[in-house]
Amino acid sequence: MTDSKKSNNGPAFIEHNKKTYELPVYEPSIGPKVIDISKLYAQANVFTYDPGFTSTANCASSITYVDGDNGILLYRGYKIEDLVENADFLEVSYLLLNGKLPNNKEKKQFDASVTNHTMLHEQMSKFYTGFRRDAHPMAITCGVIGALSAFYHDSTDINDPLQRMIASRRLIAKMPTIAAMAYKYSTGQPFVYPRNDLDYASNFMHMCFSVPCEDYHVNELLSKAMHKIFILHADHEQNASTSTVRLAGSSGANPFACIAAGVACLWGPAHGGANEAALNMLEEIKTVDRIPEYVNKAKDPNDPFRLMGFGHRVYKSYDPRARIMQKTCHEVLDALKLKDEPLLQVAMELERIALEDQYFIDKKLYPNVDFYSGITLRALGFPKDMFTVLFAVARTVGWISQWNEMIEDPEQKIGRPRQLYTGDIDKEYVNIDNR
Ligand code: CMC
Repeated sequence: MTDSKKSNNGPAFIEHNKKTYELPVYEPSIGPKVIDISKLYAQANVFTYDPGFTSTANCASSITYVDGDNGILLYRGYKIEDLVENADFLEVSYLLLNGKLPNNKEKKQFDASVTNHTMLHEQMSKFYTGFRRDAHPMAITCGVIGALSAFYHDSTDINDPLQRMIASRRLIAKMPTIAAMAYKYSTGQPFVYPRNDLDYASNFMHMCFSVPCEDYHVNELLSKAMHKIFILHADHEQNASTSTVRLAGSSGANPFACIAAGVACLWGPAHGGANEAALNMLEEIKTVDRIPEYVNKAKDPNDPFRLMGFGHRVYKSYDPRARIMQKTCHEVLDALKLKDEPLLQVAMELERIALEDQYFIDKKLYPNVDFYSGITLRALGFPKDMFTVLFAVARTVGWISQWNEMIEDPEQKIGRPRQLYTGDIDKEYVNIDNR
C-alpha cells in the first residue's frame, strides 16, 4: 500500500502489554477506512482474531464496491442498475477485466476473441461420460473446469500476461459450454455445439435447450433476461468463492485450478447454492397460508431453519440485485404468460410478511439476489440443480478478474491466516497397547 493512500487523520494505536503500537490507516476511494495490522505480529507478538473475516480486508481491489448500508453495488464505478439496463454481459465482462467500458472496436474484438474459444477440446466430452447420469451438474462442472488445465497447457503460466489473458477468455468462453454439456448429459440428450453467430446468453440457451431434430429459436426477451441475470451475478467483491479463488491463486496455482476451487465454494447453500435452496423452500411452503409457520421456524433460535434467499453478510438494507431480479422475474413470467405462477405469489407474500416482522427488521434481513432468481430460472426452463451452475457461469468473469488483479498486485503473497490455538500441549505418547 503506497503512502499516498494513508489517511489524513493519522494512524491508529493499539495498546498491548503496556506498550503502544502505531498502525497505518488507509483511505479507500469510498467506504470505511482500513487499519493495517500486517506488522502487528512482528512488532507485538500478537495475532488478531476475526472468524469469517467480518472486519478484515484481505486485499486492495479496484473492481467492485458494495455499500451494504445503502444497498449500492458498483462494477468499476458504474452502478449495477445502469449496467443491467444498458450493457450486455460481454460488455460488462470487458469492463470487469479491463477497468473501462469498451468502445465499438474494442467490444467487437473482445466478442470475437471470446467466441473464438467457445468450443471444448473434443476429448473433454469423453470426460462427461465418466460421471453418473444423475450426478449434480455442479459436481460435473467443478470436475470439468479443474480438468481444463490438463487440456490447455499453453495458458497455465501465470507469469506470462498473454497466457493469463488467453486463460481468462477461455474460461469466460467455455463456461457456458461446460455448463450446458453438464445439463445435456443429465437429460440424456446429445451435446449441442456452441454457435458463434449468437450472443453469449442466446448461445447458452441454444446449447441447453435445442435438439438436433428440430429448429430452436431463442426468444429475444428471454435472452435479454438471461444477460441481466448474468450481469447481476458477475462479481461481488471479496465474497467466499472469490476469496477462495484468490487464496488458491496466491500459491501460484494455475487459473483453471483456481476457478474450480471457486466453483466448489460457490456450491454451498449459504452462498451460490441458496438459489436452489430458496426455490426448494418456496415449493415446500407451497401456499400462502403456510407462510407464518415458516417465518416462525426461521425466528426460532432452536430451529436451524433459515429463510433461504434472505440475509446477507454485507447488505444491511435491500440487496440492489434482488430488486432488479424481482423486476426481471416479473418480465420473464409476463413474457411466458405465467403471471399466476403460484410460487411467485408465495415469494411476494413471504417477502411482505418478513419485511414487516420485528425479527427481520431488527436483524436487517432483506431478500438477496437468490430470492427471486430461482423462480425466474425455472420459468426460463432450467431445472433446480442447474441454478448454481448458472451462477458459476456468470461469476467466472468476476473470479478471473480478481485473480488477475491479485497476480498483478506487487503486494501479493501466499495467503496464510494464523489461528487461536485451543488444543492440548505437552502430551506424552502412550503405546497403543496401553491406551
Ligand atoms: N433467516 C433467518 N434468520 C437469519 C437469516 C435467515 N435467512 N440470516 C441470518 N439470520 C439471523 C441469524 O440466525 C443470526 O441471528 P442471531 O444473531 O440471533 O444469531 C443473525 O441473523 C445474523 O446471521 P449470521 O449468520 O451471523 O450472518 P452472516 O453474515 O454470517 O450470514 C448469510 C449471512 C447470507 C450466510 C445468512 O444470512 C444466511 O444463511 N442466509 C440464507 C442463505 C442465503 O440466502 N444465502 C445467499 C447469500 S447472497 C448470494 C451469495 O452470496 O451467494
